Amino acid sequence: MTDAHEEYDDRMLTLLQMIWGEGYLSPGGPQAVREIAGGLDLTGKRVLDIGCGLGGLDQVLLTLGAAHVTGIDVAPLIAKLGQDRIRRSGLANRIDIQLVEPGPLPFADASFDVVFGKDAWLHIPDKDAHFAEVYRVLKPGGRLAAGDWMKAPGPYGPDMAYFFKMEGLTYHLVTLAAYGQHIHGAGFTDIRLTDITERYRADAHEELARMKGELAEMMLAEMGEEGSAHFLEDWRSLTVVLDKGELRPAQVWARKPLAG
Ligand SMILES: C[S@@+](CC[C@H](N)C(=O)[O-])C[C@H]1O[C@@H](n2cnc3c(N)ncnc32)[C@H](O)[C@@H]1O
Repeated sequence: MTDAHEEYDDRMLTLLQMIWGEGYLSPGGPQAVREIAGGLDLTGKRVLDIGCGLGGLDQVLLTLGAAHVTGIDVAPLIAKLGQDRIRRSGLANRIDIQLVEPGPLPFADASFDVVFGKDAWLHIPDKDAHFAEVYRVLKPGGRLAAGDWMKAPGPYGPDMAYFFKMEGLTYHLVTLAAYGQHIHGAGFTDIRLTDITERYRADAHEELARMKGELAEMMLAEMGEEGSAHFLEDWRSLTVVLDKGELRPAQVWARKPLAG
């Protein structure tokens, strides 16, 4: 299948789940979801997950008390695989994965209590338009909670360019300070920003070691020698930009003010 929004191919989806767990296309597993959503009371809440991927995180949001999660994604293959997963899990009445077009969100104003995102908004070029939409679909007093990848100040260096090339994905990264400004500009208050580069840097080195060790045989079987070699080099390039502080994972929280 080819589609303008289909950058994650089968091989990439297989590899990411091998490293991060079934249903996860970003690091940290359930613990990362608990960390991002942990400070919020999700009991009985309606949550929107923008860039939901295969929906593994949405299942964790339910365990944290959410009444219903709407997951949206722009990639047809990913949305289809996610919908199939959720149907098989028997949670289709509480998790609704929808394929959407990039851009304005197909929801009425004030539809959700919480907007969640995990390592997905890095693909969105127009951050101001994005956060304006997040703000619009939140109820007054509603919360934004996300994990995302940031960049260091200044232009990308050659290591970042090489990492992007190895990934084969389009990233639109800004600094954490600029990210905060985009959120502030949309009207949010109580903005909290946490850089978690040091932690993920250590994890990424462990992931690379696992790829060379316990996962090597499975990688070879799933993607052959060329594929295995490619992804090992991709991950090595990831550790380089993390070690140099050029790629900077972060967590962010904010609140839409109560009307008044
Ligand atoms: C790294 S994956 C993370 C998926 C999921 N959040 C997770 O952690 O498992 C990034 C996801 O963002 C999706 N995506 C990219 N641009 C998007 C957009 N404008 N709106 C919604 N999803 C988008 C991709 O298709 C992909 O599924």
